[in-house]
Amino acid sequence: MTIDQKFIDQFVNVTSKAAIASYQLVGKKDKIAADKAAVDSMRNELNKLNIRGKIVIGEGELDEAPMLYIGEKIGSMNGPEIDIAVDPLEGTNFVANNLPGALSVIAIAEKNNLFNAPETYMQKISTKVKEKGIVDLDYSVKKNIFNLSEYINKKPENITACVMDRPRHKEIITELKKIGVNVKLITDGDVSGALLVTEDKYGVDIFLGIGGGPEGVLSAAALDAFNCGFQGRFLFNTELDKNRANKMGIRDFKKKYEINEIVKGDSIFCATGITSGDLVSGIKIENDQLVSETLITHKSSGIKKIVKKIIKT
Ligand code: FBP
Repeated sequence: MTIDQKFIDQFVNVTSKAAIASYQLVGKKDKIAADKAAVDSMRNELNKLNIRGKIVIGEGELDEAPMLYIGEKIGSMNGPEIDIAVDPLEGTNFVANNLPGALSVIAIAEKNNLFNAPETYMQKISTKVKEKGIVDLDYSVKKNIFNLSEYINKKPENITACVMDRPRHKEIITELKKIGVNVKLITDGDVSGALLVTEDKYGVDIFLGIGGGPEGVLSAAALDAFNCGFQGRFLFNTELDKNRANKMGIRDFKKKYEINEIVKGDSIFCATGITSGDLVSGIKIENDQLVSETLITHKSSGIKKIVKKIIKT
């Protein structure tokens, strides 16, 4: 089974409208309002679609998020049954402080084909390399870089690694620098970070480190369509984390997930820029019209492209 191509445009519209809603709050120093605007818009637009959708990754559990919560049924309830992962505003700091790289993101797959991820951190690694045993979460930074270097025939000093700038990554960053790897540090937005390995034009060979679990699943959907490699391991630090994971059916708290365990079958991924960043441009006003730019992937048709669209609000 595949997801009909006609849905691509509909989901581009959903992320574009959420991006525009959040764009109105760029630089206003209010990340909560910026997030709420994107969430409200996305929920409203998703409910207009002829789908029987279920949110598998959203704003949190029902007790903490009244909208786009995990398990929420969404759409007109006519049409295909699909799993939906959303991050209406990825990079709340970016919008609040008018910084590059804020996105509105969605990924969909057929029912039961997208991982139901808990709201915890995830250890992640992404590269262009799909083959197993080249890079692996269980290898040291050094082993991963040397293996990658040999596989892609690029000296370590010509390799670029993208890492989130966080104290928890101090050891990774020190090790990378010791080997001579170029380090691209990002302050937020690791959906984008993980996707910088998909095309040579971004100049990133490997993304690694710890970020949000939900963001990891969203990235995996696009990486799968790009035929890239991804591994993720959730980090359950508290009893609450473990209880939630248990309720979601996760029994092995140390499991390392391969990409095909996170996303199966066909998928659509859309990431619309709110502020301009590495992946896509932000919302622009051209001839008095709002124009969005969206990175789209559709696995079954092989579509991987960036589209510009005039959005009517
Ligand atoms: P928000 O948009 O929810 O603020 O998330 C931004 C982000 O940078 C994600 O891309 C990333 O996965 C996560 O925060 C990292 O979390 P932390 O800031 O706690 O390291």
